[in-house]
Amino acid sequence: MYYKHHIFFCLNQRDNGETCCAQFQAQQAFDRCKAQVKAQGLSGAGQVRVNKAGCLDRCAAGPVAVVYPEGVWYSYVDLQDIDEIVESHLKNGEVVERLLTPPHLGR
Ligand code: FES
Repeated sequence: MYYKHHIFFCLNQRDNGETCCAQFQAQQAFDRCKAQVKAQGLSGAGQVRVNKAGCLDRCAAGPVAVVYPEGVWYSYVDLQDIDEIVESHLKNGEVVERLLTPPHLGR
């Protein structure tokens, strides 16, 4: 396994008025996650990779990010949530239960 945790942020932007993660500061969340992972020395092979994604088809739960290989989905609200995901999950391997995406929420 090349990365221990690989997190993808939906940054999808829609211009037709439909809900999308970009409406909810997804770009800022992605930037924050990347910065925090780097600052904590977690980035690189064998550690953590933070990537952009298009629509992950769970827009109703947005903004969302998903961590592989665990397949753990998060619906975050603010940048403090991102810090918590980095600290708890990406650094210490502990899932942040309170931010888990409700299983039934899809598109
Ligand atoms: S727009 Fe983000 S999951 Fe669809």
